Amino acid sequence: MPTLRSKVLVLATGGTIAGVATAAATDAGYRAGVLDVASLLASVPGIELLAEIRSEQVCNIDSKDLDPPLWGELVRRVQRWRDDEGGACVICHGTDALEETAYALHCLLPPGPAVVLTAAMLPATALSADGPRNLYDAVRVAVDAGATGRGVLCVLHGTVHGARDASKVHAPRVDAFDSGPRGPLGQVDGGGVRFTRIDPGAFAPPLALPTHWPRVELVCSHAGADGAVVRALLAQQRGGSLRPALAGLVVMGTAGGTVHAALQAALDEAAAAGVRVVVAPRHGNIDGGAYDGLNAVKLRVRMLLELAQQPTRQRPQPPQ
Ligand code: SIN
Repeated sequence: MPTLRSKVLVLATGGTIAGVATAAATDAGYRAGVLDVASLLASVPGIELLAEIRSEQVCNIDSKDLDPPLWGELVRRVQRWRDDEGGACVICHGTDALEETAYALHCLLPPGPAVVLTAAMLPATALSADGPRNLYDAVRVAVDAGATGRGVLCVLHGTVHGARDASKVHAPRVDAFDSGPRGPLGQVDGGGVRFTRIDPGAFAPPLALPTHWPRVELVCSHAGADGAVVRALLAQQRGGSLRPALAGLVVMGTAGGTVHAALQAALDEAAAAGVRVVVAPRHGNIDGGAYDGLNAVKLRVRMLLELAQQPTRQRPQPPQ
């Protein structure tokens, strides 16, 4: 009797997992986002035994170049697949901005079949390329019954991270991702998929898919931070030339979220002009506070999505 096989949609967006170099042992001639999704799947022997795989090429970019509308495109494709086939999704992505996409999708997608992001640190042409293994593991996690209802997951180097905590912290290393003090959600290895932690704090009702993307800028408090960047933005805003208008500022503070007094004065001017201002700790992942340990980059994603929920007329307008 034929068994019912899980269906998994693999969405490819580029990154090093689809990257090539001209040498196998160095990154000479390296380019991200070259190979198509069919090539990625062809490099993973046995992946077809894990699930019935379908695939779509969404784009083929270096993730440092991604723009928020890509999150909208991914949400629409995941939703369509869920509606049509009720299956899980694996998203192949670059590592550099993976934490932003993972967290944006985590905030936007309602609970449902698993959504797993994966990536690679070494291009597909490298000795010991990590992409095929990561893609294989991502599909294993996606079809695992324990993966459902945990929010968006990130699978790299045998580790299952939650989207709220995952962060690329070691630029040159194959085990580049870390989940900070809360730790990863599980492992995937020769022994199978094992979830070791649930993260009840990670869930909030999904936000609506934005129809516009407000401007939320990230500024840093540091020695000598005098607020000039903030005031330059406000001057452009007053002149009416900043499009979209500045709706929010996330400040990467010093240490646990302290801010230079001179920068604070400029932030107060921004707040008085209707700009939403939030301060994040320098390294994130500190429990507690309004945004519960999000790093500044993810806090910016959250603020962007929250401000995008407001109708256009409530967004700050430049003074007349
Ligand atoms: C990228 O983020 O697209 C390039 C770097 C990587 O995937 O490791």
